[in-house]
Amino acid sequence: MASLQTLIPGLAILVLLSIISFSEAREFVVGGKRSSWEVPSSPDEFNKWAEANRFQIGDSIVLKYGKNDSVLEVTEADYKTCNKSNPIKSYNDGNTKITLDKSGPFFFISGAEGHCEKGQKLEIKVLSAKHGLYLAPSPVENHHHHHAPAPAPSNGGFGLRTGFMGGLAAVGFLALV
Ligand SMILES: *[C@@H]1O[C@H](CO)[C@@H](O)[C@H](O)[C@H]1NC(C)=O
Ligand SMILES: *[C@@H]1O[C@H](CO)[C@@H](O)[C@H](O)[C@H]1NC(C)=O
Repeated sequence: MASLQTLIPGLAILVLLSIISFSEAREFVVGGKRSSWEVPSSPDEFNKWAEANRFQIGDSIVLKYGKNDSVLEVTEADYKTCNKSNPIKSYNDGNTKITLDKSGPFFFISGAEGHCEKGQKLEIKVLSAKHGLYLAPSPVENHHHHHAPAPAPSNGGFGLRTGFMGGLAAVGFLALV
């Protein structure tokens, strides 16, 4: 049987591994308590919700809304002026999942007439993943691919992370034997 002294570092690494796994991509349903993408009761409701959360690369947001509404991802300028005429992307399936595949701000507005003006708009700030153990590709590198309909945009980061975790697991195993 392995002595306690050799066991402890192994256990510590296993605990670390589970923490890393739990910090893997999370899903946020937009809108807090009401969980609904609709004209809010107060104009800054969505951004208050967003500010209370920490978004990291690879996380996704889910927007739920009725048939009359839609989600437009827009530039900052179009976000500020509620300009719906040239969205980066638009969605109207009623249950939209958007993966946050780069750091920096994302801007969303409602595509329904007059809704954005009433506060149905959302700015999501995605943290650059420099802190902690999370390794991700440079956001600059990703930038031009952002608009492509890539199914799994965070592959690069995932690969790196899996490699890193594999390495840790190996170290943990060695410490245990
Ligand atoms: C959707 O839009 C139609 C036409 O403008 C309107 O009659 C209907 O009440 C709307 N439905 C909802 C759920 O807002
Ligand atoms: C919205 O954006 C389009 C394209 O950039 C522009 O032509 C139009 O004037 C803008 N509309 C408003 C109301 O700012």
